[in-house]
Amino acid sequence: MGKLVVVVGTQWGDEGKGKVTDFLATQADVVVRSQGGNNAGHTILFNHQKFALHFLPSGILNPKITNYMTNGMVIEPKSFFQELEGLNKLGITNYQLHISDRAHVIMPYHIALDGILENLKGSEAVGTTKKGIGPAYTDKVSRSGIRIGDLLHPDMLKQRLLANLNFTNRLLSALGEKMYEFDELYPIYLDYGKKIAPYVCDTSLLLNQEIEAGKRILFEGAQGVMLCIEQGTYPYVTSSSPSAASVPLNAGISPMALTDVVGVTKAYSTRVGGGAFPTEFEDDISRQIREVGHEYGTTTGRPRRIGWLDTIVLKHTKRVSGLTGLAIMLLDVLSGLETLKICTHYELDGKVIEYVPGNYADFIRVNPIYQELPGWNEDITGVQSFDELPKNAKNYLRTIEKLTGVPITLFSVGPDRTQTVVLKQIFE
Ligand code: GDP
Ligand code: IMO
Ligand code: MG
Repeated sequence: MGKLVVVVGTQWGDEGKGKVTDFLATQADVVVRSQGGNNAGHTILFNHQKFALHFLPSGILNPKITNYMTNGMVIEPKSFFQELEGLNKLGITNYQLHISDRAHVIMPYHIALDGILENLKGSEAVGTTKKGIGPAYTDKVSRSGIRIGDLLHPDMLKQRLLANLNFTNRLLSALGEKMYEFDELYPIYLDYGKKIAPYVCDTSLLLNQEIEAGKRILFEGAQGVMLCIEQGTYPYVTSSSPSAASVPLNAGISPMALTDVVGVTKAYSTRVGGGAFPTEFEDDISRQIREVGHEYGTTTGRPRRIGWLDTIVLKHTKRVSGLTGLAIMLLDVLSGLETLKICTHYELDGKVIEYVPGNYADFIRVNPIYQELPGWNEDITGVQSFDELPKNAKNYLRTIEKLTGVPITLFSVGPDRTQTVVLKQIFE
């Protein structure tokens, strides 16, 4: 029987979704990216070499997988073609890829505006990836965006670009910024249209055929639920919804069709960019975690902020996104720490709470309440089963299960595919 499995980030992104997708893809037929753009950076190991994917689904390295980039995505053509060229250089030319005609185009002025808006926000800056994500989604929602399908129709592209520039140039001019010339952009984007055309189609039609044919489909989440525009720590979020609930809309499939939601979580927490982060700490232990876990952004190279595991965050994701299982990543990074902390509750104004406050003014004031657990010293990077783990590592995993009420599907002890221990098969 077919399965539709969502791989969702449960925290603030970079949980290891690329690795989990690449691992599960060995048993899947189809991999789908449904939202976000090249703000995502998904690392997978290919022939012992690290490869970072920003737009392309993590099934792209496997010639048997059909890959989709669906309507919820925003795509910057230049970077997209650079990513494809990177694949070609690795000798990967045999891939199957479909791109939605409904996906939106990130234009150069979106990238410029991303930087301008961040500068204007000063100390309140979101800390975006400066890839133009926010401004591209803003144009989509204000119904002035350019879609991938428009690139294929010269008259439509002309009309959409003129209308978009008419407004954007007035905005840029008022801000004292460089304006954009229609005559310069139009031929470039017509050309992108010709180059991207072989991939472009109505991905919803094709995906629904895959579902009817009983295919095993993986939806590769990007970002994480705490960065969700609806359910995250607004305004320190991205401009789309990374939750599992957004997948049907962003891919053009029935909400009744999803069968599993695998929540990918680090064995601790990280965040890049601004915004409150209750379990964050900075000392020798966090620096050790950053170095051992190579916690530097895949997309921007920024050092990631480090925190203890926060089960209030995991329970929030479970509630607003649905989780049928957890994939616990980077467990190996915690080896050698004497004591581990897990946040079980927050304290807010003298009250103990068990939820993420929606009001940001409250969220910045919560104090984490921790349960302390003994650590382990053993190197666990070669562990191949739950039984082989040190007693305290087993206890750590079982405690996460107990606190969240979500069973562990798999855990990971290193970046390689082989460093993955499955406790419950997804695709039987
Ligand atoms: P994504 O955005 O969720 O796909 O995650 P990133 O690729 O941005 O960041 C996760 C990082 O952790 C990558 O460098 C992975 O290679 C690495 N990684 C994934 N799983 C493990 C693991 O179990 N142990 C270690 N040490 N590294 C891991
Ligand atoms: P993956 O898929 C981590 C963060 C940015 C910033 C905020 C808004 O690799 O997990 P944006 O450029 O989207 O407007 O930035 O969201 N952010 C991510 N952080 N991983 C990601 O993707 C992210 N995508 C966006 O750092 O705080
Ligand atoms: Mg990442």
